[in-house]
Amino acid sequence: MKVTIIGTGYVGLVSGAVFANWGHTVICLDIEKKKVENIKKGIMPIYEEGLEDLVDKVQNKDKRFEVTADYKKAVEHGEVIFICVGTPGNQAGAADLGYVDQAAQSIGKNMPENTYKVVVTKSTVPVGTHNRVFENVKKGAGSKKIDFDVASCPEFLREGTSIYDANNSDRTVIGSNSEKALDILSGVYETLTSPIVRTDIASAELIKYAANAFLATKISFINEMSQICERTGADVVNVATGMGLDKRIGPKFLNAGIGYGGSCFPKDVKALISFSKKAGYDFKILEAVHEVNEDAKNRVVKKIEDMLGSLKDKRIAILGLAFKPDTDDMRDAPAIHVISKLLKEGASVIAFDPQSAENAKRVLPEATIYAKNIFSAVKNADIVVVLTEWREFSQVSLAKIKELVSQPNIVDMRNVFNPAEAKKLGFNYIGVGRR
Ligand code: UDX
Repeated sequence: MKVTIIGTGYVGLVSGAVFANWGHTVICLDIEKKKVENIKKGIMPIYEEGLEDLVDKVQNKDKRFEVTADYKKAVEHGEVIFICVGTPGNQAGAADLGYVDQAAQSIGKNMPENTYKVVVTKSTVPVGTHNRVFENVKKGAGSKKIDFDVASCPEFLREGTSIYDANNSDRTVIGSNSEKALDILSGVYETLTSPIVRTDIASAELIKYAANAFLATKISFINEMSQICERTGADVVNVATGMGLDKRIGPKFLNAGIGYGGSCFPKDVKALISFSKKAGYDFKILEAVHEVNEDAKNRVVKKIEDMLGSLKDKRIAILGLAFKPDTDDMRDAPAIHVISKLLKEGASVIAFDPQSAENAKRVLPEATIYAKNIFSAVKNADIVVVLTEWREFSQVSLAKIKELVSQPNIVDMRNVFNPAEAKKLGFNYIGVGRR
């Protein structure tokens, strides 16, 4: 099938490359010419495992993938046009739909007459946005006679594993009030063997928020449970294992830690709270989920203070900056809040992250010092604080760290180390929800 993708961020670029690999002919559009030129040369705008190789394959070998800044060419190409632009949270927590509006209008403006197209939102948008997309496509088209339907196909990709996720999705959700649009859209996904949920468009839009909000709720739940563990001597890792084996609960998203970050959960939880309010309902659980998540970040600083007392002039080694491992993404990373606070208290911060240092420099206070590896970060440190569970941290020699630090203190906000081993080596060790 001929598929067009508007936007080459995480969702757009990964989806485009994966669709092309499934055999579709794909054109990806981005309005940033520099980004387009870079992708053509094989330089990816994001770090994502396997993406560079996949784009190289579909672009240069299979020749079924093209990037362009030419809207006319892109819109004329696709029988199905996916809108994959950003929907950042605005100050009030609501999703800012400016980019979606612009994309829909540009689609309308460039849509040829007498050719049927399905315009699909993949961006996470509040329920009801399909009406806005429909109106904006028509607005862009002006007096032209165009033939199209709108649909929603929310994205469930996780950063770091997005190519795997796209090929192995648990389900694909497609929503439209037009059966014709649903038939065509399901054709894009015919390679997959997992279920396709065909539904009305409002439900499809809401499913994305419902899923993300539920997962965020699981994380805040286990973070609260870890508080009880710390007060009762239980171990949250054992509690999560015991709970997770119940099939009704499931083992995933039960890792206690520093709270959820990233480009989706914080924004989507706030957006769902915001549009529930507009719809006349206070989503009480989600207000608490958000509050618990904010507390989780403050908890790190409290744990460090419990070990060190005053933070003034203390040297703090931070291991991990990205909001999760296997990504260089710093959007809404808890590390931003934590490091700002530590510096404010007069500490010096030496940070190491395997991938995100460049992005971190744009969002962290200037006073942050960046180390080239784990060992130079921990050298002479008064405390070692783990904020992201990169695999290389759990594999590092604690004995070697012990030789380098100035004081043997560890605050492990991702429970990557074995507490017994750390203590045996002489560390003062605090994890999350365990002793
Ligand atoms: C998420 C959704 O999983 C994905 O379906 C959606 O499309 C986009 O948002 P992503 O933001 O890439 O994906 O990361 P995810 O792996 O879900 O983690 C989100 C945050 O929750 C991270 O900060 C992570 O550290 C945190 N988390 C996750 C926990 O604190 N504990 C857990 O058990 C799981």
